[in-house]
Amino acid sequence: MIIDGKSLSKEIQREIARFTSSLTDRRPCLAVILVGNDPASEIYVNTKTKTCAKTGILSVKDNLPSHVSEEILLQKIDELNRNPLIDGILVQAPLPSHINTNKINFAISPEKDVDGFHPVNLGKLMLNDDSGFIPCTPLGIRVMLAKNNISVKGKHVVIVGRSVIVGKPMASLLLQKGEGGDATVTVVHKHTPDLEQICREADILISATGMPGFIKGSMVKQGAVVIDVGINRVPCPDDVRGYKIVGDVDFDAVKEKCSLITPVPGGVGPMTIAMLLNNTVKSFTRRRPDLCKNTFSCY
Ligand code: GUN
Repeated sequence: MIIDGKSLSKEIQREIARFTSSLTDRRPCLAVILVGNDPASEIYVNTKTKTCAKTGILSVKDNLPSHVSEEILLQKIDELNRNPLIDGILVQAPLPSHINTNKINFAISPEKDVDGFHPVNLGKLMLNDDSGFIPCTPLGIRVMLAKNNISVKGKHVVIVGRSVIVGKPMASLLLQKGEGGDATVTVVHKHTPDLEQICREADILISATGMPGFIKGSMVKQGAVVIDVGINRVPCPDDVRGYKIVGDVDFDAVKEKCSLITPVPGGVGPMTIAMLLNNTVKSFTRRRPDLCKNTFSCY
């Protein structure tokens, strides 16, 4: 069976739109910074700002040239940190190699860090302190599993990939005590011997490698749940764009073995965006409780 991330994302977007339409003074506002002109990043950023507009969230976008200095980028972040009308700040990754991504993540105010990449927010995640922001992709996966009544408690979850955006915060989230946690987690990566064997032992397999077709049918246990985080472009002469988007998972082979699988597109991607909106509204409700007549139950 297929887990439909798109329709769940739409449902969350409707809840967010209901909340924002009850606001009379001002709307939540997300600031997005894009450095350079990577076509995939441009599409992601445009999807984020368009979805903001659909749900009554304001957004401001800054497109800086790829040669922009770290100093100018830090200045821009400082301005946004100080601006009381900005609730969330997102700097689209990846950044050009002359910019130190950690320095940028450290500079964003933790109260406006809707990506959850600031050390304070990553630290709170490790400490089981739910007052911070949780990175959008892991949070979206947790919500998607919960809404489909898939408990992770006591399950062996194998995460393929150890990125700061997905793998590491996903592991922390699944290890938390209580609701949505209590899993046994293994993180594997390119230096892991017996990676395929470990994947075969997973009750829930989460792949975030960025390598199309990496997860083959032979790497999946019968009846496992498979979560595909990959968003990869592969050439496709049949498509007018000349390419199509596929995940990390060899979908046709794996769907025969697993009990549940997320498609690409239409799985994790839309949930990441829903959680970005969720985090932006969460920031707004914390910063300006005086403006909120209705409550919004954030994830
Ligand atoms: N690049 C890929 N995923 C993400 C994300 O969740 N946030 C940001 N800022 N950049 C990304």
